[in-house]
Amino acid sequence: MNLQYVVLLISVLLASTTVRNQATLGVWNPIKNINDPYVTEIANYAVDEHDKRTGLNLKLEKVINGETKIVDGIIYCLNITATNSSASSKYNIAVLDKLSQHFRNLTSFVPISD
Ligand SMILES: *[C@@H]1O[C@H](CO)[C@@H](O)[C@H](O)[C@H]1NC(C)=O
Ligand SMILES: *[C@@H]1O[C@H](CO)[C@@H](O)[C@H](O)[C@H]1NC(C)=O
Ligand SMILES: *[C@@H]1O[C@H](CO)[C@@H](O)[C@H](O)[C@H]1NC(C)=O
Repeated sequence: MNLQYVVLLISVLLASTTVRNQATLGVWNPIKNINDPYVTEIANYAVDEHDKRTGLNLKLEKVINGETKIVDGIIYCLNITATNSSASSKYNIAVLDKLSQHFRNLTSFVPISD
């Protein structure tokens, strides 16, 4: 392997890393598979945590749509519906998920109108 080749290889690797970071870091990306079990898990966490904090007893009905943003972890911003014993309502929720640190937090849970 000559030096020229090594230099070329390194610059190609650096360039592709830069492009990848620009494409994802700090940018909201729509969630393509809204039925992904991991997305459902995040939504269930949000509803359970909201129940704990408020003493309400809401249950997740479904995830409508959502986006993610890579920060120090991943922020999930989802529109969901949840039901109490009598009615279904729409909410916009945000969860910060840091998989590698086993850290998860509900940062927003607000009702939205249709
Ligand atoms: C959630 O719903 C609102 C209003 O219906 C919409 O403006 C917003 O883009 C939706 N958010 C996501 C993450 O899709
Ligand atoms: C259920 O939610 C609806 C709509 O938000 C509300 O009007 C109703 O009071 C709630 N019922 C209970 C039992 O919490
Ligand atoms: C979780 O998010 C809430 C709301 O943004 C914030 O008040 C709280 O400090 C956060 N908890 C942790 C452990 O970061």
